[in-house]
Amino acid sequence: MLGRRLHQATVAVSTGRPRGVGEPLNHPIVLASNIRGEAGEYSRTHGTATWLGLEEAVGALEGGRAISFSSGMAAASGALFALSPKVLVLPTDSYLGVRALVADHVQQGHLRTRAVDIADTDAVVAALDGADVVWIETPTNPTLDVADVPRICAAATAQGVRVVVDSTFATPIYAQPLSDGATIVIHSGTKFIGGHSDLLIGLAVTTDDAMYDRLHQARLVNGSTPGALEAFLALRGVRTLPLRMERAQANAMKLVTRLRAHEAVATVRYPGFGAMVAFELKGGAAAADAACRAVKLIVPATSLGGVETTMERRQKYAGDAHVPPGLIRISVGIEHIDDIWDDLADAFGGTP
Ligand SMILES: Cc1ncc(COP(=O)(O)O)c(C=O)c1O
Repeated sequence: MLGRRLHQATVAVSTGRPRGVGEPLNHPIVLASNIRGEAGEYSRTHGTATWLGLEEAVGALEGGRAISFSSGMAAASGALFALSPKVLVLPTDSYLGVRALVADHVQQGHLRTRAVDIADTDAVVAALDGADVVWIETPTNPTLDVADVPRICAAATAQGVRVVVDSTFATPIYAQPLSDGATIVIHSGTKFIGGHSDLLIGLAVTTDDAMYDRLHQARLVNGSTPGALEAFLALRGVRTLPLRMERAQANAMKLVTRLRAHEAVATVRYPGFGAMVAFELKGGAAAADAACRAVKLIVPATSLGGVETTMERRQKYAGDAHVPPGLIRISVGIEHIDDIWDDLADAFGGTP
């Protein structure tokens, strides 16, 4: 736009806007399925200004072209549809919904999987031989394993293996995997991008024009289109994404220091960036459940990435049976850190 590379904070604020003189600063919430015309114009086919604004902004933040979907799961399904792998390398620890999606494909006989520890780069690289796609999630949900994206992408590219990166936890503020050679980056925009726990949306981003067409086709034929209000709110969320991440990450870092020093805490996992933290209490699953019941400010809830701090014990879900029983995943919000900490430390005493 200005002929020089802008910082992410500026990109988040300035992209995805109408540019003409006399136009409003924000794209409107376009509530129309139908478009006047003779060439079959239709919102599912052609998109709307509301979607296009969000896609332009997220595309600019990731360094590619984005397609918006009705949810993160729809974006994941769209990426699988676009790539149609026969052999898929998948992290053992990754979002349980994505693993359920892949398991369904396996059950239908559409593909085979190779499960890997995504933090074990040698194992991931070894699994690439004869694979079509490697699915990276980093940091993973919920154990926060971190993948070496540049090394995996280099090895995958050399063997013609395509790479999907679920970058929901990293956000475009802390990672831009397309610049490392990833084929498609996906987001549950429901989380940090939206940032206010008030919508479901997904995004898939690519630098490859043919892949963009495949993703567009995936949304078109599956009908996994975003809602108008959701797209508007998600773009509004993008405006403050860098600011929210800065605060949430600063809070997360302080929280990690305090957790590590607390006598009730057994282990703490933190990737070193972002707003997601996982920890175990010495009292195991029972103590974790008691803490989740006892918090008063922090919200016991399964979703994450909002301005409010949420926490949950993950192993209770069938799909997360591999997770340590007492592991609590906490999505650190933008409240004052002392209030978050006081609430958590009080909760370690158990149910009052
Ligand atoms: C890493 C990750 N990817 C994808 C999804 C799915 O997103 P959605 O709930 O928007 O469908 C989630 C949801 O928790 C997630 O955590």
